Amino acid sequence: MNEITLDIAAPDDWHVHLRDDEMLDAVAPYTASTFRHAVVMPNLRPPVTSTAAAAAYRDRILAAAGPDARADFTPVMVLYLNDDLDVADMLAGAADGVVFGAKYYPAGATTNSAAGGSSLLGFRSTLEAMAGAGLPLLVHAESTDPGIDLFDREAHFIEHQLLPVVEAIPELRVTVEHISTRAGLDIVREHAQVGGSITPHHLTCDRTDLLANGMRPHLYCKPVINSAEERIAIAEAATSGDPSFFYGTDSAPHPLSAKEADKVAAGIFNAPYALEVVAELFHELGALDQLEGFVSHHGADHYGVARASAKVRLTRRADADVEPTDALFTADGTEVRIFGAEAAARWSWEPLAD
Ligand code: NCD
Ligand code: ZN
Repeated sequence: MNEITLDIAAPDDWHVHLRDDEMLDAVAPYTASTFRHAVVMPNLRPPVTSTAAAAAYRDRILAAAGPDARADFTPVMVLYLNDDLDVADMLAGAADGVVFGAKYYPAGATTNSAAGGSSLLGFRSTLEAMAGAGLPLLVHAESTDPGIDLFDREAHFIEHQLLPVVEAIPELRVTVEHISTRAGLDIVREHAQVGGSITPHHLTCDRTDLLANGMRPHLYCKPVINSAEERIAIAEAATSGDPSFFYGTDSAPHPLSAKEADKVAAGIFNAPYALEVVAELFHELGALDQLEGFVSHHGADHYGVARASAKVRLTRRADADVEPTDALFTADGTEVRIFGAEAAARWSWEPLAD
């Protein structure tokens, strides 16, 4: 097979965890060199609930972005929606260009979500204020009801928590984050104001990969990777050209010691090969012509920000004769496993001059 070259508008990552301190220093350069916008998740400890905390975190991210950061790299800050969030502070932060929107975590659903909420509609007045100011709501759509099977929790949350909000406040722009099932795809397709972000791992892996041939803790994330039917439906949505679906890596680094443990931490670190993985999948599906829409245009359009003018050149090598590393080390020696090295054996990319 011949080499393939493809130029696309600079991509955006609409969902990423950059952490703080040594981990931030180690992981931020990958996101900053690859993506124009990065919506940075606020699930630090303590969570980012105020404009001042978001502005300080944004400054730490920019300081950690590294010498190869894109000139147009922009950390996009969202506040953690809980009882500590002050609506007036959020609206003032939005008016100042610091705050972009808010992220809702059901308490206990995932990593650092203990400070989250128990009822999305319980935040109705905040959500109405956000709708009025044009601020989007980003949602971790996963039920925490212990009686609901793990693989059904996205559907359960959507039916019982998210749909009531979408119907009660139709002016609110909503993103279903890291879609893992057809229930997530359906609510996006059925409501013009709802978009969906899709990760590289939910696009390319299913629970057979996770569990069948030796349980693989580095593929464990929330919402948990689901069946092959769900994966195929998600990949069809991403490659379909439907502008409601866009890329959000949910890159979520954890120390190796937390991933290879009795109770495995949820989260997959994919930022170093985030473009390579999605390029290889679109190539396999014969959909490279849809890649630019998915990674560069659809999210910008959903959020009402200008599309990138800068371009990135992707190249697929004829031979996979390099072996990209799957390990990252922070300055204090902590190892983090990287997702997607096989795709990076095929693909490389470079920013093009504007
Ligand atoms: C994320 C993390 O580690 O912060 N983990 C994950 O499995 N995706 C949190 C999240 O987005 O759910
Ligand atoms: Zn996440």
